[in-house]
Amino acid sequence: MLRSVFAILFSAGLVVLFAWTAPFLAAQPTSAPWPPPPAPADNPTTPERVELGRYLFYDVRLSGPGYMSCGTCHRPELGFSDGRRVAIGITGERHPRNTPGLANVGYFQVLTWANPAETRLEEQSIRPLFGRDPIEMMAEGRQADILARFEADLAYRARFQAAFPETGGTIDFPAIRMAIAAFQRTLISDDAPYDRHIRDPASGALSPAARRGMDLFFDHRLACATCHVPPHFTDAAIEPRFHNTGLYDLDGAGAYPGGDQGLIAHTQDPGDMGRFRTPSLRNIAVTAPYMHDGSIATLDEVIAHYAVGGQAALTGQPSPLASPHVRGFEISPSERADLLAFLEALTDATFLADEHLQSPYRWRAEPP
Ligand code: HEC
Ligand code: HEC
Repeated sequence: MLRSVFAILFSAGLVVLFAWTAPFLAAQPTSAPWPPPPAPADNPTTPERVELGRYLFYDVRLSGPGYMSCGTCHRPELGFSDGRRVAIGITGERHPRNTPGLANVGYFQVLTWANPAETRLEEQSIRPLFGRDPIEMMAEGRQADILARFEADLAYRARFQAAFPETGGTIDFPAIRMAIAAFQRTLISDDAPYDRHIRDPASGALSPAARRGMDLFFDHRLACATCHVPPHFTDAAIEPRFHNTGLYDLDGAGAYPGGDQGLIAHTQDPGDMGRFRTPSLRNIAVTAPYMHDGSIATLDEVIAHYAVGGQAALTGQPSPLASPHVRGFEISPSERADLLAFLEALTDATFLADEHLQSPYRWRAEPP
């Protein structure tokens, strides 16, 4: 108890300290390589589990009808997002939300757009597999069929055996979810031009425009780094926090559209209307469209959204529920271009093309 109180105070202290020092951090490279994402004691990130997880992540046989995989929506070349405004499940049902990228997801303390209870990768995959509202992979009620597909595949039996020797390679959904979680802990993006610049500021990895944009990003005036905290460009890797960015204000009291109002759905606290977890900005240039509902098409428009103090402010007053850090700011066209150049410098070509993270079934065309 005391320990967790201390941990909270400590991380809150770190956040405050960061917010305070943020403008100076740009000048202070922190070149230490990150430790691998923490894994639960019962699911170490072994090479065998990671490899099995990679096969499963991209295997359409994991869905009930057999034509959708995790990788259908989480595509590596798009930073593991899907390019759609909102995700479309296997029955054609529209998900209320945009598919987030998965870079560095193993470091996040809280998963998905606005669910404080979703904290473990091992549990998170239950939702796309078995969820009924919306239906994504439609595995519910078809568990036996799905497991039989893998049982019948000798190569899979060997992979389960290698990954889970302690159970004799039992093929079941807990093992499937553990292997996929292990694979997702290897989705590490740390080689963007920004990272190369941090490792060696003399490398010239950042263009002059991107360097100016970096200064803007970390400046108090724009306050971006208050929530998009490096190195993962989200505070979700520090402690679960949810913010209202003034995207909607339907009634002058801050209301969001009924389909998705964020954290309030879990807490019933009116103050949590429109609060969402800060998404990472890694590979942000390839994960369009933006926001929890995919309602903003381009990065330039996202910058415009923040500059006016939240999209809601376009129609009059800023939302009363918007974060105090989203107040709007003056930004010149050339500064806007610089900030855009910095956001583009978070694109990690090494990660996007990493063979080890790609589908092992690349020769097999996936259905559109
Ligand atoms: C139909 C498209 C679709 C499929 C299939 C799908 N996802 Fe997702 N994924 C999404 C959407 C949409 C979200 C956001 C969900 C939310 O916020 O409620 C998401 C969120 C996530 C997250 C949280 C990311 C973050 O930033 O916190 C993880 C991890 C994830 N998915 C992994 C998986 C895995 C593993 C599978 C396969 C078992 C899978 N997804 C299948 C669309 C999909
Ligand atoms: C108060 C915290 C906060 C501040 C300050 C903030 N953001 Fe955000 N940002 C968020 C949250 C939360 C979302 C998701 C909001 C939603 O979907 O409704 C978001 C979404 C985004 C997205 C879309 C990400 C995606 O994957 O769809 C971009 C790009 C972005 N912010 C850039 C910036 C920039 C640039 C700044 C500074 C001008 C900034 N943010 C300031 C919290 C913040």
